[in-house]
Amino acid sequence: MKPMCGIVGYIGPKQAQNILLEGLRKLEYRGYDSAGLAVYQDGKLKVEKAEGPLSALEERLNGQPLHGEMGIGHTRWATHGKPSDENSHPHVDGKQQFAVVHNGIIENYLELKEELQEKGYAFTSETDTEVIAHLLADLDDGDLVSTVRKAVARMEGAYALAIAHVDEPDKLVAVRLASPLIVGVGDGENFIASDIPAILEHTRDVYVLDDGEMAVLTRDGVELSTTDGKPVSRDLMHVTWDAATAEKGGYEHFMLKEIHEQPKAIRDTLAGRIKDGLVDLSQEISLSAEELKRFDKIHFVACGTAYHAGLIGKSVVEKLARIPVEVDVASEYRYRDPIITPSTLVVVVSQSGETADTLAALREAQKAGAQVLGITNVVGSSVAREADEVLMTWAGPEIAVASTKAYTTQLIAIYLFGLYLARILETRSESELAEATEALLKLPKQAETLLEDPSAIRRFAGDIAQHEDLFFIGRGLDHAVVMEGSLKLKEISYIHSDAYAAGELKHGTLALIEEGIPVIALATQKAVYDKMVSNIIEVKARGAHVLGLGLEGDDELGKSVDEVITIPETLPLLTPVLSVIPLQLLAYYTSTARGLNVDKPRNLAKSVTVE
Ligand code: AGP
Repeated sequence: MKPMCGIVGYIGPKQAQNILLEGLRKLEYRGYDSAGLAVYQDGKLKVEKAEGPLSALEERLNGQPLHGEMGIGHTRWATHGKPSDENSHPHVDGKQQFAVVHNGIIENYLELKEELQEKGYAFTSETDTEVIAHLLADLDDGDLVSTVRKAVARMEGAYALAIAHVDEPDKLVAVRLASPLIVGVGDGENFIASDIPAILEHTRDVYVLDDGEMAVLTRDGVELSTTDGKPVSRDLMHVTWDAATAEKGGYEHFMLKEIHEQPKAIRDTLAGRIKDGLVDLSQEISLSAEELKRFDKIHFVACGTAYHAGLIGKSVVEKLARIPVEVDVASEYRYRDPIITPSTLVVVVSQSGETADTLAALREAQKAGAQVLGITNVVGSSVAREADEVLMTWAGPEIAVASTKAYTTQLIAIYLFGLYLARILETRSESELAEATEALLKLPKQAETLLEDPSAIRRFAGDIAQHEDLFFIGRGLDHAVVMEGSLKLKEISYIHSDAYAAGELKHGTLALIEEGIPVIALATQKAVYDKMVSNIIEVKARGAHVLGLGLEGDDELGKSVDEVITIPETLPLLTPVLSVIPLQLLAYYTSTARGLNVDKPRNLAKSVTVE
């Protein structure tokens, strides 16, 4: 299983090597344990690949650059075979006729491999991808496009492919099935990429391939068709993101840049969805009021950080729309045979829109007759295309593996949906809805204020960077927020941290509290404030070193904790959008204090496209 890789392709008048390397650099967040290129040079497909980050490959190429105007490239996330030169892509057949780069999985690769080995094909790697190169050679009928069609017909699984053939240097073929793939259209040159940032500095006009589609690229054009040969016509999508957005914009890490992009991301996600002081999603959600009134249950389903957004969704939708809500991690939901009826609305949340477990849950729900609302950040992603209704978050490209701005914009999308539902169902008065909507519109500014001075957080991060274990505690919505804060810290600082409902401590976990252990306590929810303070006193009594996070103007909290961080006051229901930001910064500064790779933490990938 390959969590995720990045693939690129170029055909045009320019030297391909650096264009491909530049594209791979923009895709390294997708996988970075090995990389390689194949370029058509002097009548051959010259392949250079290396284990390790892209810089290892660049070093090799410095010694012996590849010269040619057509090529493909790959940055890998290994699972089928450890990171190694042999296992990195591109893979070629024995006669170096075909070169292939691949993202996804070939589920029937063993069967195909045995068949090909019986025919005498020799394999040099442990990967599933190498099977494709030999299969192409075995099916080669002298025409690249029809050979690819025949090979694809034999392959099962998920794959985004870029394929080159030594005898047809004026052509590149791209194929997509359940792994993201786009084609960039330039002037006398064309590009293949797993994601938009890779080609943004060359063109803004892209085709997003659908599952079961392929593209044939030449210098002068791009031809789209289904893999079985039916022509496909599709509008070019003009990307408005600027290249810089995809770059670090002057910040040391993508994560810090993305944390600071949250006010804009929140503003962009609110834009055009509030009319006359109330939320109006009728342009995006085609379900009529009658149809919305028919839902008697809502399921939020997602993975990781998106799942934590779903936890907030439960409180928001139950409080505003008074409909019972269940929240599930997608990898459990898809196998637990949940009770889904046609009056169930399933809300899947996914930044990338490509997470395999979330997609499978989406398809399960649709099979069971439920309507599916997809909340996602990537236009043209599988969730955006397969869900019955879609609510986009407009966070822009999120490069750092640790999700930040996508999370806060997911919360905004959930608030918008909750308020819209409450308006349609008339479960809240217009004045309550107007008050909440007004508070929503204030959030971007309040977030900006929060980001002005991270010095207190940075100081506390310096302290906890010395520790290997710590705890987060909170009640109500604060509990859901500390689960996200704890995940952020674990992901990028490798400190073992746990998040607990504060009222649960005395039922066991309190035994772990000892002298000097850091505890981060959120106390932003007025309804349970006193209870929360008494839980803080419980851990203080056992010697914990406590950072309290409360609302501006709260003079009480400081008396019970060692350090206090405050956030601007807003409605209790909306507080998570603000209270998570100091926790994101805490994780960021703890990771930098430990000198770790913030944007590319070990063992993780940005979006897990296979189960
Ligand atoms: C979060 O920081 C992680 N990158 C991870 O938990 C992520 O949220 C999860 O894999 C879901 O990704 P998605 O939102 O793209 O579906």
